[in-house]
Amino acid sequence: MGKFVINGGKKLNGEIRVGGSKNASLPIICASLLCKGQSIIKNVPDISDIHSLLKILEHLGCSVKFQKNTVTINPEKLKSADINGELVCRMRASILLLGPMLARFKKVSMSYPGGCVLGKRPVDAHITALKELGCKVVDDKQHIILVAAQLNGADITMPEISVTATENAIMAAAFAKGKTVIRLAACEPHVQDLCGFLNKCGAKIKGVGTHELHIEGVKSLKACTYSVTGDYLEAGTYAIAAALTGGDVKITGIDPHDLDSFLQALKEAGVNFETNKSFIHIRPTKNIQAVAKIRTAVYPSFPTDLQAPFAVLLTQAKGESKIYETLFEGRLNYLFELEKMGARFEIINPHQAIIKGPRKLKGVPISSWDIRAGAAMILAALCADGKTEINNIEFIDRGYENIEDKLQSLGADIKRI
Ligand code: EPU
Repeated sequence: MGKFVINGGKKLNGEIRVGGSKNASLPIICASLLCKGQSIIKNVPDISDIHSLLKILEHLGCSVKFQKNTVTINPEKLKSADINGELVCRMRASILLLGPMLARFKKVSMSYPGGCVLGKRPVDAHITALKELGCKVVDDKQHIILVAAQLNGADITMPEISVTATENAIMAAAFAKGKTVIRLAACEPHVQDLCGFLNKCGAKIKGVGTHELHIEGVKSLKACTYSVTGDYLEAGTYAIAAALTGGDVKITGIDPHDLDSFLQALKEAGVNFETNKSFIHIRPTKNIQAVAKIRTAVYPSFPTDLQAPFAVLLTQAKGESKIYETLFEGRLNYLFELEKMGARFEIINPHQAIIKGPRKLKGVPISSWDIRAGAAMILAALCADGKTEINNIEFIDRGYENIEDKLQSLGADIKRI
């Protein structure tokens, strides 16, 4: 297992293009199982979560190729095998196979998925939505087993606004008989991109970008060529890297509107920046200010996936900032790593903390807890005095493509060893 060694204090300058969205690519690849023919999915990030998913699909009989950020996938020989093994347990996103496999074979059996340790990661919303569409749950504590004689359109109110549960419901409903309404649907840019892909394949999904989707089931979907949207979470991470180092960085390849709440928080923190239709340009910033409250919530509110990265910025802000992580109870653990570097904070409860800044951070050995906490460790190291070693970087590799090359191109001193 490798680690990153970072010598902090280098100003980042230049231009960087973000890759395709991980959280859009994963469901789009799963949705291609519903299509007749060969799908060509472009702008897919070269990260380990994508490779793990493709391995699972190969194991299920799909023909799969990944070359130069393009996935070519043909599910003609897809078989209805049990979906289990180490890869499923390792990645939470394997849950995205439930909807398409159920739609294709009227039966699916998989191990409970793993993934980042963000707290309790229930699957009740997935099961509730799929049950509404007509499947039954076969009781088994180790596996999720769903069977259906036929999937029928339904009026579904999601018990929780959940990204992947909404995506599973969309994929199953696209193939169900009749009309489905999904209320309290998640509408993150990656959910919208999944709908964009399915509609291009012939699905009939309306209300994209809202919390209420109307889907008319179709009998077949035709494979297409599709380019995945840019990763706004990666863009947000690089924006913070630039602001933390007082750098001047233009970030391209995304629609800045996807980051409206995040940009509002950056503004409150006193970060200088400008945006255009397809870029964010972070200008040199000297004095970072405390932010009254960062409250994470479903889109279009502040994204939970940028909470840990933003907290690093707040360690450098003058005053006290409150973090309120509403989605996951395990997503403040990274603060203890930042504490080793000299950050000061008070944890109020598993969802809330107060960051007290500014504090000069110093390089020490630290660990990455999950994808975004890992990115936060890199950000802290970039602005710290001296050398930081980051362990457990396989978490970072799950979600960030060539992060060290991209940061090096902006002038960071970062090495993988
Ligand atoms: N929830 C339930 N029941 C369920 C499912 C979720 O109560 O059946 C709750 C969760 O406990 C949480 C909330 O609903 O409080 C939202 O969780 P959600 O289901 O939306 O999370 P997810 O679909 O498992 C996706 C992303 C995560 C991202 C969250 C929130 C993918 C592959 N993963 O996870 O991304 O943090 O939505 O936006 O899309 C990451 O990229 O690093 C990452 C963890």
